[in-house]
Amino acid sequence: MNNVPVLDTFKRPLRDLRISVTDRCNFRCPYCMPAEIFGDRYQFLPREDLLTFEEITRIVKIAVGLGVTKVRITGGEPLVRQNIEELVAMIAAVDGVSDLAMTTNAYLLSGYAEKLKNAGLKRITVSLDSLEDEIFQKMNGRGFSTARVLDGIRAAKEAGLQPIKINAVVQKGVNDETLVGLAEWCRDNGHTPRFIEYMDVGTLNDWKLEEVLTAEEIVQLIEERFPADPVGPTYPGEVAKRYRYRDGNGEFGIISSVSQPFCGDCTRMRLSPEGKSVTCLFAETGTDLRDSLRDGSTDDEIKKAIIGIWGSRKDRYSEQRSEETVKRKKVEMYHIGG
Ligand code: GTP
Ligand code: 5AD
Ligand code: SF4
Ligand code: SF4
Repeated sequence: MNNVPVLDTFKRPLRDLRISVTDRCNFRCPYCMPAEIFGDRYQFLPREDLLTFEEITRIVKIAVGLGVTKVRITGGEPLVRQNIEELVAMIAAVDGVSDLAMTTNAYLLSGYAEKLKNAGLKRITVSLDSLEDEIFQKMNGRGFSTARVLDGIRAAKEAGLQPIKINAVVQKGVNDETLVGLAEWCRDNGHTPRFIEYMDVGTLNDWKLEEVLTAEEIVQLIEERFPADPVGPTYPGEVAKRYRYRDGNGEFGIISSVSQPFCGDCTRMRLSPEGKSVTCLFAETGTDLRDSLRDGSTDDEIKKAIIGIWGSRKDRYSEQRSEETVKRKKVEMYHIGG
């Protein structure tokens, strides 16, 4: 199969594939999987509905043929999917995948870091909203303390899964007072924190604009303590805006999907655990690819299907956000990862 880049209706190429490998998670962050909804009786996807590692890898190979070079494994929580290191190894072996990363809450990471590194994972991003135990316990919805997460991050560093990025969703009145502490800890440990504006993803978190601390406010908070200057992106279309500390001790990033949307550069396609391709984090739904994976369709046929999906893509949700769109039916974040 020849490599043919595919462009959407706004001429945006397809470069990143974000693969959600499970809809399950060991946390219950209220802004993502509120514990009242995702209780003991919640029906997660049955195993047979999940794409197998072979099916996922087949999609990766086809997507590389359309321009994808960057792959991120996410969830739910990817480390709760059994033998996930095998999938990492299978994707790492695909010619053309130059960046292979994973987003995890790191609760199980200490037991996996070495295996993931050996399997060919390049780097890891840890979702960690606060280092203050009391706040973290509330924000993970399970009352877990930070100790195991910090062990996981340490193990990742020791295994050489570097650079490590730390993603913190910022909610006004919840964790905003602990951001500077998180930035300081990251500076001391050589990690890059990225502060994410709280977004109206999904339909379950009762999002309100008043709960968003804007990028500008976040930057001001951090810069008051650690002066920094904006620097350009590491690669075209980088989601985070970067700020480098003036004392040379690293950098932090801001992800400002609410106050400064970045749809113009959006090159990301998402693959849901049951094999739907989703072209926007805020999409109403996705397009099934699993049937074609299971009905004997050829790679070329699946490739044509993806060309059709990407080619007709018009998504620019964050640029169009309004009171009306916030209430719209949307895919859930835990289902497609970030
Ligand atoms: P790097 O490859 O390390 O630059 O990371 P990334 O840009 O792929 O970012 P990451 O996967 O760490 O995403 C961080 C967060 O940014 C996600 O969890 C989402 O909350 C948000 N995000 C990522 N991609 C998009 C996007 O396409 N649209 C919006 N609105 N938010 C996004
Ligand atoms: N707004 C911003 N980020 C979110 N995430 C989950 N829900 C939201 C939201 N409503 C983040 C997680 C994780 C990544 C997968 O997405 O904290 O870092
Ligand atoms: Fe799990 Fe991440 Fe959602 Fe929290 S934000 S419930 S860690 S998938
Ligand atoms: Fe891409 Fe949709 Fe995010 Fe805009 S809102 S950057 S189109 S995923």
